[in-house]
Amino acid sequence: MPAVLDYEPLIVAPRSAPPSLTAIQDEILALKQERNAVILAHNYQIEAIQQVADYVGDSLGLSYQAQAAEADVILFCGVHFMAETAKIVNPGRTVLLPDMDAGCSLSDSCPAERLAAYKEANPEVYVVAYINCSAGVKALSDVICTSGNAKKIVSQVPADREILFVPDQNLGQWVSQQTGRAMKMWPGSCYAHVQFTTEAIEKIRLQFPDAPVMAHPECVQAVRDIADEVCSTEMMVKFAKESPAQQIIVVTESGMLHRLAKDVPEKTFIAGPTNTCACNDCRFMKMNTIEKVRDALKILSPAIEMDETVRVAALAPIQRMLDWSKA
Ligand code: 13P
Ligand code: SF4
Repeated sequence: MPAVLDYEPLIVAPRSAPPSLTAIQDEILALKQERNAVILAHNYQIEAIQQVADYVGDSLGLSYQAQAAEADVILFCGVHFMAETAKIVNPGRTVLLPDMDAGCSLSDSCPAERLAAYKEANPEVYVVAYINCSAGVKALSDVICTSGNAKKIVSQVPADREILFVPDQNLGQWVSQQTGRAMKMWPGSCYAHVQFTTEAIEKIRLQFPDAPVMAHPECVQAVRDIADEVCSTEMMVKFAKESPAQQIIVVTESGMLHRLAKDVPEKTFIAGPTNTCACNDCRFMKMNTIEKVRDALKILSPAIEMDETVRVAALAPIQRMLDWSKA
């Protein structure tokens, strides 16, 4: 069994009010008006960014928000594939990403050329792509899914088709177990979520025996198996609201704690630990800083640009997802 280091747990205790806004956050709110911009932020962003956002949510909620946005500018505080998705569904807007290098290990694990080669060798395969992939991969896929709708999407794929699930083998395995649908898995994973171990989670459980564990499906099976709830980040908010427990262990990226503290302020949240740290940050999500958010609005850059042929090809499986998701 790998040794788990000793460290103090990271706890977000109930609080009466969120921290007050700083000068730079006020500047962002003024620029937002001036630029006619909307700020969409993923649940993993730092608290200062979540506080100035118009909407904070998971990949599915953010996709709907991006599609419906009427502002001239969408400032997307998340990672590259998320901002790219916003541009695909709403090409008439300027879509800004505070740091263009904010990528994703899952997206990197499935280059479009490799998927194209696989499809050439296996032309009958039906490709279900987790939204954590590039526009090029989306353009080669039949339908997209998020962690919030994956079960629903996979169960609607025609029964006579063989499915290839890309790029997350852990989410894919979980969906396959939940739906009973056999799928071939692309061998990708989230470098951050695979760092959660059963040893570290069992250890924190001993310290908080009454706290249920909620884990993201990108975690490995051994961790998912000991969790009380496996769900998308948005569903974690729902679980936290509805659970009778006063303390909850949150096995996902640490930014989620800010969202939970805001929406469920009366409860205590404990960060899911790894073997070496009391919490787990995604280094890509954390590339967006409050200064970069301000600067992006000031100079309207960096902006997402995309080849129109790729965009149109990538839109079809996203639209299929949005339609199937409502079904
Ligand atoms: P959610 O859609 O559940 O927010 O997950 C996105 C993600 O990147 C998880 O690592
Ligand atoms: Fe990608 Fe993992 Fe970061 Fe999510 S947490 S953006 S899957 S690297």
